[in-house]
Amino acid sequence: MARDHIRFLLNDREVTLRDLGATDTLLDHLRLDQRLRGTKEGCAEGDCGACTVLVGRLEAGAVRYQPVNACIRFLASCDGCHVVTVEHLRGTDGGLHPVQRAMVEHHGSQCGFCTPGFVMALYALWMETPHPSEPQIERALQGNLCRCTGYAPIIRAALSMGGHGTTDPLMNERAQVKGRLAAWVDGARVDVTNHQSCAILPASTDDLADVLEQHPDARIVAGATDVGLWVTKFLRDLPVAVFIGHLDGLRAVTETADALHFGALVSYEDARAPLVAHFPHMARYWDRIAGWQVRSMGTLGGNIANGSPIGDTPPPFIALGARLVLRKGAARREMPLEDFFLDYGKQDRAAGEFVEKIILPKPVPGTLHAAYKLSKRRDEDISAVAFGVAVTVADGIIINARLAFGGMAATPKRATHAEAALTGQPFSLETMQTAAQALPQDFTPLSDMRASADYRMRAAQNLLTRFWLEHAGQPAALEDVT
Ligand code: FAD
Ligand code: FES
Ligand code: FES
Repeated sequence: MARDHIRFLLNDREVTLRDLGATDTLLDHLRLDQRLRGTKEGCAEGDCGACTVLVGRLEAGAVRYQPVNACIRFLASCDGCHVVTVEHLRGTDGGLHPVQRAMVEHHGSQCGFCTPGFVMALYALWMETPHPSEPQIERALQGNLCRCTGYAPIIRAALSMGGHGTTDPLMNERAQVKGRLAAWVDGARVDVTNHQSCAILPASTDDLADVLEQHPDARIVAGATDVGLWVTKFLRDLPVAVFIGHLDGLRAVTETADALHFGALVSYEDARAPLVAHFPHMARYWDRIAGWQVRSMGTLGGNIANGSPIGDTPPPFIALGARLVLRKGAARREMPLEDFFLDYGKQDRAAGEFVEKIILPKPVPGTLHAAYKLSKRRDEDISAVAFGVAVTVADGIIINARLAFGGMAATPKRATHAEAALTGQPFSLETMQTAAQALPQDFTPLSDMRASADYRMRAAQNLLTRFWLEHAGQPAALEDVT
């Protein structure tokens, strides 16, 4: 039996909706239907953070709140969640919340329009750590843009927010919220079909496989950080949308003796710790992906399935020898990640098939790793060139090399000519420069708004030199420009 409605907690009220479209956004619902106008619309594409709200969901027996962009979060995907908007913020005395008091005291409310978004991102940070460091604040605010005065007063407010109190009514209400969300868990498929569209939330991973067999042309929606923009920017319809973000079975990270297994729904945010524990070089690269809100929503499976030539996970993952597991019905197949990308916009995925997991082999002793992202802005920007490299050196000789680039071709792609130029050669600057000279055989990059073809090729060649400088025992002369 399928449930024909969604239900969620909005601040302290229960909301039940039967008549909703697959592309209805949470932001429109808040502002137009619920008249909660504190949540603003700036860009409608996940970039500016003005629409930041918290979404809490049951995870491992507790409610976990994360900041999300309401503009690209589809309403249907809020089933079973607690949505918290700025209107719900208050202090234990009923007045301003500690985060709001800090913003007032430090004149952090500048234009006022983007302020609720900043407050909500800081609120999420305050919940995690009421006394954050400056790097923690910068990381938390990567997805909130200020175009008027500057970030200094906001950062000063964030540094002081713990001094204004470390508890609030929402924290005290957690047990009650948890009980209300837990009471809704019914293991049912949700199917809201009406004259506009069909929105389905499968009951489990097996049910997802069944749903996709029945609707092979349905659009899978995971974190919606790509799909959301197709709707808000390109006004595309989703006649049949299968929402999968709630499926815990695809959200696990497990470890075997020789590999890490990431479920397709592991978010950027949740992938960071296990990834960095095994591959410390990924920390800096990972923090260059989007902002906190998008990192909380966007998934590894979505980034790969989307097949963009400038997606950030494929280059380092291909270099690390990642394998992809796809499932259709009960049948599974596994392939090297690089084989998934066939051509621009074309992946090796059949109708009704979905990405189930990504397998990353653990590091091999003697292997040197790096990952670099070049983009116009440091924060919240898409790569012009991304580069993942893994080079195994024994007795000074390169015995294995995997080089993978994004932004250099129609797909993320290995540089096989450059790899051949490295293999069997001494690990030296001369060898790197020879490999760099082979790169034009691997790639004919395009010029676009992010970079010219010439820039891309030179940057890719220079990254090989940079890799050698950083790993040959010499300090890199370059500042951290990536
Ligand atoms: P969705 O948008 O839900 O889906 C994307 C595509 O994958 C759709 O075609 C969908 O049908 C398909 N899909 C999703 N999951 C599956 C599955 N399990 N099986 C089969 N198909 C599936 N990306 C970067 O790489 N680097 C960045 O720095 C970056 N910055 C961004 C900044 C902003 C403001 C925004 C809005 C996006 C940014 N992105 C960036 C893009 C985006 O975050 C990623 O591509 C994201 O990983 C997609 O995952 P998702 O779960 O949101 O996918
Ligand atoms: Fe800009 Fe949502 S309105 S991120
Ligand atoms: Fe809103 Fe600067 S504080 S744009």
